[in-house]
Amino acid sequence: MTAVAASVAEGGGCRHLAIIMDGNGRWAQAKRLPRIAGHREGVQAVRRVVEAAPTLGLDVLTLYAFSSENWKRPADEVSDLMGLLRHYVQHELDTLHRNGVRLDFIGDWQALKPDLVQLLATARDKTRSNSGLRLVMALNYGGQGEIVRAARALAADVAAGTLAPDGITTDMLEARLDTAGLPPPDAVLRTSGELRLSNFLLWQTAYAEFLVTETLWPDFDGAALAAALDEFSRRERRFGGR
Ligand code: FPP
Repeated sequence: MTAVAASVAEGGGCRHLAIIMDGNGRWAQAKRLPRIAGHREGVQAVRRVVEAAPTLGLDVLTLYAFSSENWKRPADEVSDLMGLLRHYVQHELDTLHRNGVRLDFIGDWQALKPDLVQLLATARDKTRSNSGLRLVMALNYGGQGEIVRAARALAADVAAGTLAPDGITTDMLEARLDTAGLPPPDAVLRTSGELRLSNFLLWQTAYAEFLVTETLWPDFDGAALAAALDEFSRRERRFGGR
């Protein structure tokens, strides 16, 4: 069964929500604060949402924390974001673990600084057997790059003679994505009103519902999450049928 077919069979509520956490800069600007203040407050929103997610029925929460295009930002902002990520994992890991959260990462996160990679790998390994919320952080992530990596893995099998080009299926490509084993997102939520996917989960969002809120990410909380999921519950999903 493909991941989409499994979702159809499952029916019902939002199990997997993916969030584009946007608006940290505008939040800071409106308060005449430096951008880092917006990102710092954004981490508090991450904490609130991770706490609320399981109580609202979510099994998987994927957060777009750093895109492969975010390297284009000024070096000090990139360094601030990496510092916040390091701080979040160092300070929240015990709480996450105690709450049964399983932490995982998608994207080319292994290309980050070696000490950060080590910290992330340790956090992932420590929480691997947890059966609560699956918290997936997209780090150095880009949907096009992810599909290219999956295509390369298939091409390697073809070159090795273990796979025929005509034998390539949707399931095979899906199994080589970073998200292999995860259900596709039922919905993608973007904060701060922009209407763009920004290279996030391009393959996986084929049938995802798009939710947009004007709320800036640093102001986002459990109530805002509940409101978004309530909107989702009123959508009629047809997956190409009628
Ligand atoms: C977009 O705001 C947000 C980001 C580029 C990064 C998201 C990062 C965080 C929420 C903090 C770090 C996260 C963790 C998990 C430690 P923007 O700067 O593009 O806002 P703007 O569009 O208003 O300028």
